[in-house]
Amino acid sequence: GKGNYRHFMEKELHEHPAVLGDTLRQYLDPKTLEVRLPRLPFDPARLPRLTISACGSAFLAGLVGRYWIEGLARLPVDADVASELRYRDPPLAEGGGAILVSQSGETADTMAALQLLRAGGQRVLAVVNVPESSMARESDGALLTVAGPEIGVASTKAFTAQLAVLACLAIGFGRARRELSTLDEGRLTQALLEVPGNAAAILERDAEIRELAAEVAKARDVLFLGRGPLYPIALEGALKLKEISYIHAEGYAAGEMKHGPIALVDSDVPVVALCPSGPLFEKTMSNLQEAAARGGRIMAFTDAEGAPALRRFAERVVELPHACAFAAPILHAIPVQLLAYHVAVLKGTDVDQPRNLAKSVTVE
Ligand code: F6R
Repeated sequence: GKGNYRHFMEKELHEHPAVLGDTLRQYLDPKTLEVRLPRLPFDPARLPRLTISACGSAFLAGLVGRYWIEGLARLPVDADVASELRYRDPPLAEGGGAILVSQSGETADTMAALQLLRAGGQRVLAVVNVPESSMARESDGALLTVAGPEIGVASTKAFTAQLAVLACLAIGFGRARRELSTLDEGRLTQALLEVPGNAAAILERDAEIRELAAEVAKARDVLFLGRGPLYPIALEGALKLKEISYIHAEGYAAGEMKHGPIALVDSDVPVVALCPSGPLFEKTMSNLQEAAARGGRIMAFTDAEGAPALRRFAERVVELPHACAFAAPILHAIPVQLLAYHVAVLKGTDVDQPRNLAKSVTVE
């Protein structure tokens, strides 16, 4: 049941800390600060190339995974939504590997991508939440997200659990390919181990996010912006808002604003920015300043280090617990999902069962 929560989605949002803890404990050792992966269907040290494919939010988790894996393991990654991959018939590298990401493990397009990849000689690893699913059975190996059943149609805890598994894989691949020192590995796993506690602290900012939601709920269109691994989180924020509140939203790479979307910016369009401190902070901030100069109302998620500079021009700044740049995408996913939830509640939509959508899309 829903317990004391109004919706399954609210309950599942509040399970983020527990699910992240359970999932991370599965793949990393808190004592040695090492990633411990089960036997994989491919040797990451020998892979020439990796393909990531999935649908919807699971694909967006895969996109974050691409930034991490390319960055930490220097392994080239292609990422494509499964509905495109299956008909694009891409040339696949000999001896290549693939990762499919899915909560249900039953999504028709992702299953079709699985067949195509295996027929093309790729060794396929599935990151799935349902151990007995078709995807877990038919791939060459599976890593489980430990999210428990997800009832709300919009993915929440399963998404952050997918990120947690992909983060562990990126570290493991980095070590296998000799791109990461033991020291780097320790620093990154330490950052991941702090994620569940930080997630709990973010959920305590609920009232602040509800205030932000009251502003967003009045809008007809909303822009979500981020750079680097926060760009897929901007896409996730926009997807979730569209899906459950029916407000039109677009996620953009912040650097793309001046190539078109900035034409939309005026005082009626809230611009939700994912702008943690770190290597891309200054670049993202200057894109936000350009939007603010055109009347855009900037609503920024950042941390204590980023907040003072953003407060100079942003309408609202929500300060999240400080995390190293590596963990920031996981932490920023939580408030954008929470924001979508509160907007939907304010609009009175059917949060757990949005119109026209099904939890598991088993037809093409
Ligand atoms: C969005 C959402 C969907 C799913 C997509 C894939 O909130 O839930 O976009 O992520 O339908 O489903 P799975 O992960 O079951 O393959």
